[in-house]
Amino acid sequence: MDRLLIEGGRPLFGRVAVSGAKNAALPIMAATLLVDGPVRLERVPQLGDVATMEALLAQLGVTLHRPTDDSLELLNTDTSRRRAAYRLVRRMRASVCVLGPLVARRGRGVVPLPGGCRLGDRPIDLHLRGLVALGAEIRIDRGLIVATARRLRGARIHLEGPRGPTVTGTANLLCAASLARGVTLLSGAASEPEIVDLGRFLNACGARIAGLGTREIEIQGVSQLGGACWQLIPDRIEAATLLLAGLITRGVVTVDRCVPSDLAAVLEALATLGAGVRTGPDFVTVDGRFAQRPGSFAAAPHPGLPTDVQPQLAACLAAIPGRSAIQDTVFPERFGHVAELNRFGAQLCRRGDTTLIEGTHALEAAPVVAPDLRAGASLVLAGLAARGATVVHKVLHVDRGYERFAEKLAALGASVERRGQMATAWSPSPRLPG
Ligand code: UD1
Repeated sequence: MDRLLIEGGRPLFGRVAVSGAKNAALPIMAATLLVDGPVRLERVPQLGDVATMEALLAQLGVTLHRPTDDSLELLNTDTSRRRAAYRLVRRMRASVCVLGPLVARRGRGVVPLPGGCRLGDRPIDLHLRGLVALGAEIRIDRGLIVATARRLRGARIHLEGPRGPTVTGTANLLCAASLARGVTLLSGAASEPEIVDLGRFLNACGARIAGLGTREIEIQGVSQLGGACWQLIPDRIEAATLLLAGLITRGVVTVDRCVPSDLAAVLEALATLGAGVRTGPDFVTVDGRFAQRPGSFAAAPHPGLPTDVQPQLAACLAAIPGRSAIQDTVFPERFGHVAELNRFGAQLCRRGDTTLIEGTHALEAAPVVAPDLRAGASLVLAGLAARGATVVHKVLHVDRGYERFAEKLAALGASVERRGQMATAWSPSPRLPG
């Protein structure tokens, strides 16, 4: 069984570098389906989800090659493949990112519906409505999305749902509109840094996209995209998790190779809790040795506090005596970590879309099960702070989104030991053809 053994109660000290962003890697890898010519991506993390996207692209006729540990070359070699395999799509919701590129470049995309997940109901109605507005014909046939189009055409599309903008929906439509005839205006679009990175990558390939980082994006369609070399942005969720590891263990941790401005809401939360926070051009230091106080927070779309940090922040609040609260309006069902965190001796309970927390200074080690990626990370943080030997089972969930997590924590002085196989293995081609 895959599990992490943690001997907790040791403050973490030192410097650690973050990897490239998972949530930039996935849509950018999918976007290479649009491109004629070779693409080289730098700073690609070796993660479970990246391995799934590699396998999915290979199944769709892309040849992939890893010239170094953190770079990836991709080339479309068989454009007749247009059907994404269920065995891969079911592993990861972000597989839906291939839909827009397939229909825009190959005229047809058949992608299994992603289905529900542990964060609750996650519809893709906004993706589909946007593609229909661009002229795609869409039908759902026995759980498969079948999207077809001769050449998409530009349109005005409002992308905001009741819970705010959709991130992967914006990615799908950015990709599709890049090859559409005419101009597309996306309003209510996601402004997350990973979407900006995707748009800049597409522009490097010859797309014409303006307004990235705002809620209004304009795309002037082009007839073809060419290859490019692109370095992915750093993973701000990994950076936030490592900073929170410094806070919860009451240590001093410097996170290198990050973009502090992308972490503004997280740094504000750290300061509210009483941590010392210092930023430089590409690093952040958190000092958790000061007295900590409880607080109330709400996860929201960018530039708000990321929902992907909500469970890890909840773990930190569980380790601070007093009453705290954390609301999640983006995924109001994101509570997989609550029952497991209670095993450490804190008291957390759910009220609607909010977790109420009665924290304690004396978390105690416990056996727990990671229910999903970020909930798993929150349990690792609690284990680092809790006195005694914690076992986090099903740590494969954590491999999906954190590169060499145990190694990085150990380098900061944590006592962590990984048991079982890692979920990051996928065998790329020895080289690209041609
Ligand atoms: C992406 C991220 C995920 C993050 C989430 C929110 C990737 C690969 N994944 O997921 O890590 O937690 O953004 O920041 O980047 N919604 C609709 N209709 C739709 C689409 C979404 O109602 O068609 C709702 C969802 O149920 C949710 C909210 O909108 O409540 C935001 O979801 P969305 O931004 O689409 O999340 P993902 O793109 O799947």
